[in-house]
Amino acid sequence: MAVKANPEKTEEHIDIASAVNDLLSKMTLEEKIGQMNQYSSTWDITGPMPEGVDEQERYQKITEGKVGSMLNVVGVDATRKAQRLAIEHSRLGIPLIFGYDVIHGYKTMFPIPLAESCSWDLELIEKSARIAATESAASGVHWTFAPMMDIGRDARWGRVIEGGGEDTHLGTKIAVARVKGFQGNDLSRKDTIAATAKHFAGYGFIVGGRDYNTTELNTNTLYNHVLPPFKASVEAGVATVMNSFNDIDGIPVTGNTHLQRRILKEDWGFEGFIITDWNTIGEMKKHQYAKDLREASKRAILAGADMDMESQGFEFFLKEIVESGEVDESFVDEAVRRILTLKFKLGLFDDPYKYCDEHLEKTKVFCKEHRDASKEAALKSIVLLKNEKNQLPLSKEAKSIAVIGSLADDKDTPIGTWRAQAIPFSAVSLLEGIQNKVSDDVEVRFSKGYTLSTGIPEFTQTLDLSNADDRSGFDDAIELAAASDMVILALGEECFQSGEGRSQTEIGLKGSQLDLLKEINKVNKNVIVVLINGRPIAEPWLYENMSTILECWQLGSESGNAIADVLFGDFNPSGKLAISIPRNVGQVPIYYNRNNTGRPINDDIDPLYVFWSHYIDSEKTPQYSFGHGLSYTTFEYSNLELSSQTMKMDERIFVSVEVKNIGNMKGTETVQFYINDLYSSTIRPIKELKGFTKIELEPGKSNRVVFEITWETLAFYGPDRTLAAEPGEFEIMIGGNSEELLTQKIELI
Ligand code: NOJ
Repeated sequence: MAVKANPEKTEEHIDIASAVNDLLSKMTLEEKIGQMNQYSSTWDITGPMPEGVDEQERYQKITEGKVGSMLNVVGVDATRKAQRLAIEHSRLGIPLIFGYDVIHGYKTMFPIPLAESCSWDLELIEKSARIAATESAASGVHWTFAPMMDIGRDARWGRVIEGGGEDTHLGTKIAVARVKGFQGNDLSRKDTIAATAKHFAGYGFIVGGRDYNTTELNTNTLYNHVLPPFKASVEAGVATVMNSFNDIDGIPVTGNTHLQRRILKEDWGFEGFIITDWNTIGEMKKHQYAKDLREASKRAILAGADMDMESQGFEFFLKEIVESGEVDESFVDEAVRRILTLKFKLGLFDDPYKYCDEHLEKTKVFCKEHRDASKEAALKSIVLLKNEKNQLPLSKEAKSIAVIGSLADDKDTPIGTWRAQAIPFSAVSLLEGIQNKVSDDVEVRFSKGYTLSTGIPEFTQTLDLSNADDRSGFDDAIELAAASDMVILALGEECFQSGEGRSQTEIGLKGSQLDLLKEINKVNKNVIVVLINGRPIAEPWLYENMSTILECWQLGSESGNAIADVLFGDFNPSGKLAISIPRNVGQVPIYYNRNNTGRPINDDIDPLYVFWSHYIDSEKTPQYSFGHGLSYTTFEYSNLELSSQTMKMDERIFVSVEVKNIGNMKGTETVQFYINDLYSSTIRPIKELKGFTKIELEPGKSNRVVFEITWETLAFYGPDRTLAAEPGEFEIMIGGNSEELLTQKIELI
């Protein structure tokens, strides 16, 4: 008997495990394998599509029960159409699950994840994921391929924009907040969608920051820095995990049994399913790890991959592999059980069309409430890098403001590269934001100055920057700057300069931007630089010579309004860098939580002496380190106190610090707590973030901030790869960034 969707039954009444087993017992091997196959639509393509793919053929396969999931099929009409084929025309009527890259918004765009991570505001991050879930779910999406939780230490890699930055503790907290935001407490609700912890694992460690490259990643780093966000996401109930393009130790991740089966499924008890990244099964042949697609498919299933995104390996070869006895059918059953379980949890067997809600799609998507939330996220993501002459906040009384730079007038770049269903050019530009903010008496004039690209490319195409050196807009911009009270100069990157497949060997300002900055700086000393970018920009002249710099990243739909609020003091900036800004590309990767060497870079050594770890042509520090971010007020840290200086394994210590707002404006500070294990069986980082708290303080007011230290705070994965704390001394550090810290010592006995 065919199991058809049954709208009468609700999820509470179903014992999912027995329903899955029941269904599994009715499925042919071919139908089971069908569940493990995922196809993309042919009209919204996010990876290399095989040649000659035919949309009708894909639809036909749905009716034959050969497809379990589709990606890039969005909108009520499209998802309903495809779902109907599965429900009404396939033998068992098993619903499809629709996946989509809802990375930082669906139609209402939030700041790119790297920017939002600079808010260090977990509630806000959870809320933005929830809104993205609500909007995409209303359009028929069940499952997002987010959050990306790869540690990003290399700004050459265009995908640093997509993650939580360079730090594992912060990145883990953010990953969990995003998972919770997407999934809520109940996956069967209409405003929640399944999340994906990706890319498992090590993708951020590709050599040279060149996307899809091989990785150099040691086991110490893997366990202590790369895996923790994934483990925490599994503990938080993430529904799926996506594997990655790279290899580790010469084994492509998709064929890596240790990583997928041992660590993820067995050790961590992950109950969801593993989706491959796009064609990673097929790419095992290109890696020269499998002789053909058949062998790659066999390796993938044995290693633990459950659903095949776009390689068609499972579809074409798994039946034969199982029937020949090379792989036991129980491997297939296990994968299908995991996939069907999620479909049950989402409530798709109760009502396969429940996420297709025209009313919600019309009323909720891009609504005012969501755009307000996006503005709040944008405000909190902005990082004030430098305000040396206290030029900010600006007075709204200025008579004439020159807004210069094509990025200032750009309504598209703030939307970012992973833009889901965002309406192109729908963001509030910086120019519009400033115009909205000041009164009619203020003259706001714009000049483009430079041009970056020739226009928005297809998602699969590189941005054309061949005209970026053009200087034909210089005269006009310089003249305007000279004639204005102040200049707000937007510099940075267009959105399609970063993101997947968009690695760069240079991470400075492209084209004529720096030259223009120098010219403008000659004619007006009141220049505010607003950076709009996806990855950290390494441009020493800019940071050293300009006194006022606001890092605004790509802030989403409300970008310009949020930047204007900060520029004119209606919002006091509170963002802190989630990734260090290097001085130059040669320093990359540069990150605060590095291991010490035998000749430490931080030692105070005569710079002319050569036998120590340093560069002879560059400073040792980054331009701005992790955790840096100023405010319009000043916070003073004092009285770092410990409840005890020693603790046993089962005890705890409280460390507290007094933070005082000694400026004259209310502000929010992110208090950061770091440790350093002074002697251990495996070298530990010179400092590691272990906690943070955001506090808001009125001028003159102070607050004591407390952090708890237990053995887990001090623990790490040592040589035997188990989590343990080792007795000995630890430095405890607290401050407003990773450099300026008050320090005390404790001992674990
Ligand atoms: C490849 C990307 O690496 C992955 O993150 C994304 O989810 C898939 N393509 C689907 O678009």
